[in-house]
Amino acid sequence: MKKLKLLLFACTAASSVSGQSSLPVYLDNTKPIEQRIEDALSRMTLEEKVAMCHAQSKFSSAGVARLGIPENWMSDGPHGVRPEVLWDEWNQAGWTNDSCIAFPALTCLAATWNPEMAARYGKAIGEEARYRNKNVLLGPGVNIYRTPLNGRNFEYMGEDPFLASQIVVPYVRGVQSNGVAACVKHFALNNQEAYRHEVNVEVSDRALHEIYLPAFKAAVTEGKAWAIMGAYNKYKGQHACHNQYLLVDVLRKMWHFDGVAVSDWGGVHDTREAIYNGLDMEFGSWTNGLTWGESNAYASYFLATPYLKLLKEGKASEKELDAKVRNILRLAFRTTMNANRPFGSFGTPEHALIGRQVAQEGIVLLKNSPATPKKEDFVLPIDFSKAKKIAVIGENAIKVMTVGGGSSSLKAKYEISPLEGIKKYAGNRAEVVFARGYVNDFLSKEGGMKHDGMVINDVVDTRPAEEITAEAVAAAKNADVVIFIGGLNKYDGQDCEGGDRKGLELPYGQDKVIAALAKANKNLAVVIISGNAVAMPWVNDAPAVVQAWYNGSEAGNALAAILTGEANPSGKLPFSFPVELKNNGAHALGQYPGDSAPAGYLNEKYSEDIFVGYRWLDKQKIKPLFPFGHGLSYTNFEYKNLKITDNGETVSVNFDLTNTGKREGSEASQVYVALPEMKIAMPVKQLKGFAKTRLSAGETRTVEIAIPKSQLSYWDESKNNFVTPTGTFEFLAGASSADLRLKGKLKF
Ligand code: GLC
Repeated sequence: MKKLKLLLFACTAASSVSGQSSLPVYLDNTKPIEQRIEDALSRMTLEEKVAMCHAQSKFSSAGVARLGIPENWMSDGPHGVRPEVLWDEWNQAGWTNDSCIAFPALTCLAATWNPEMAARYGKAIGEEARYRNKNVLLGPGVNIYRTPLNGRNFEYMGEDPFLASQIVVPYVRGVQSNGVAACVKHFALNNQEAYRHEVNVEVSDRALHEIYLPAFKAAVTEGKAWAIMGAYNKYKGQHACHNQYLLVDVLRKMWHFDGVAVSDWGGVHDTREAIYNGLDMEFGSWTNGLTWGESNAYASYFLATPYLKLLKEGKASEKELDAKVRNILRLAFRTTMNANRPFGSFGTPEHALIGRQVAQEGIVLLKNSPATPKKEDFVLPIDFSKAKKIAVIGENAIKVMTVGGGSSSLKAKYEISPLEGIKKYAGNRAEVVFARGYVNDFLSKEGGMKHDGMVINDVVDTRPAEEITAEAVAAAKNADVVIFIGGLNKYDGQDCEGGDRKGLELPYGQDKVIAALAKANKNLAVVIISGNAVAMPWVNDAPAVVQAWYNGSEAGNALAAILTGEANPSGKLPFSFPVELKNNGAHALGQYPGDSAPAGYLNEKYSEDIFVGYRWLDKQKIKPLFPFGHGLSYTNFEYKNLKITDNGETVSVNFDLTNTGKREGSEASQVYVALPEMKIAMPVKQLKGFAKTRLSAGETRTVEIAIPKSQLSYWDESKNNFVTPTGTFEFLAGASSADLRLKGKLKF
């Protein structure tokens, strides 16, 4: 620090004497960044350059103190800023001022179908990272939802590349408006947690470019992401963290990415590949730098001493090193050395409100039928003129969900549980009773799950399951309305990094509990809290079903606002809910979690190719439990007067949308396109446009959706590029992928 002060004093003194700025170019904020980079680079020693390319601690990398270039500090994660951890450990450092606002997981953000929400979300989480003095936020994740078993789907944006692209761009821009780099991850093909470090993905170029890369491409080319994180898995036999095709051919040559490519933690396996295949910064290579001795110290990283040795022996040129350091310096000048960046804010009510708005807009009303088919007795929204006693059943009504799940785990300033929210919203209008209904079986001996060294104090309940269920049934029998709140959680084997689920079914015997509750009281609403689709064998016995996501600090308030009708649900599914696992392409063709080559699960063929999610269901003519893009409202919407206009570069798809109900509501209208018949296999339809429109009761508005013709293309493997075909295109507009109300054709 002293050197830095001396240097700045000397420069200021010199400039005041000469009357003109004699600040070194790299310190001069008025100079173009590229000039500043070259000047800084010219002043750095070989050792300083190499030191920049690898971690110096669990989440930081070296700057150049001699030149006043700060260190880089990264932090997870995509839906909140992780608590400070010890220099070399995953365990928390025990700070008292790093409890954040926990935002909803990104499946919820995608379920809002609202890019404006994504912009607000990105800005808010970026403010939190900025305030915590992190210049790289390790998120968002945009890996495509290929299998409902993937333990990390809750961190991502669903099964459709267009929806994910539209949501990731404003998120990235929002984060970076704070002078904090968004680090889009995990690039690429990290679509499962099973064997994530070993599996080599085999996928066609077409499926890669049409399904798995578009959201990354949008984040880089439209969002202008300043950082990207390589994935653990292999592709074309090379680890994605040093993969020639992904990090050089695609990222740099096709997309002209000028940001920094960082490894996932422990994702680097080879010095030469790391030097020549586009990686800039190596993190987490299994070291704690202190107690595991030299063999695991940061100097032993692949891009540390081994690299320096090659350089000094003339076995590696400085050309690749300088390219890496330029990218890292560019990160510095965009963040830590950008004198004009804002100061951020942390744990504020404003951030909590944004989290709540996203949660309320992302919660999906999947089903809402009268409790008795002949009558209009809807369970939701709760009618307090009739509901004087509400039974809330299920462990997820009380469970801490901001902790756990892997690297996205948080130390939240607070977390309103569903039970707390419902009690608050009921107020004195109804008595709310709770029964656990079931108990998860992942409780550690401390009566909770440990994560980052922090124990979640689940209330241990060692009674026999039958007794716990009987208690819930009794509570249901004596209530006017029953709200079951279950689903998955953030424990290993559920929605959690590092492993996948074993099946589509709800765990802990919930199906039996729900069936028993339905028998005990027909006024039953089932709320699923999860980041993944689940099987619902009881769906015909539940008049109302809600998908409520992991919604962070304001989860309980947002859910209660929806259940009580203060807020009108407008969320729509970002991924399909199959009836059973074999209805999903990855499982139907038996290519998950990979073949059992001699070394075990070395290869996984994405044999379903481009037919992921609703594309598969359409192709196989399989009816899903709930379709992609599905979500109900407490009001209704009518679609009329479709007009399709060819404007040269774009096609306009306009229609009149009317709120035909008695209350205001928002509708995420969707436009799917069927490309012309061709020799190559084509999806029946693909999402190519959407718009979220808020309408008061009775209001009609013309919705205008512009679709660039460049979006109406497919990857032509013979041309190694996208091609827009000519012929007759069909445009279908409606409320979901399975509820398309209007259609029209256009030939061009
Ligand atoms: C983890 C995750 C990555 C995270 C990183 C740092 O293994 O894959 O998403 O940002 O390590 O915690």
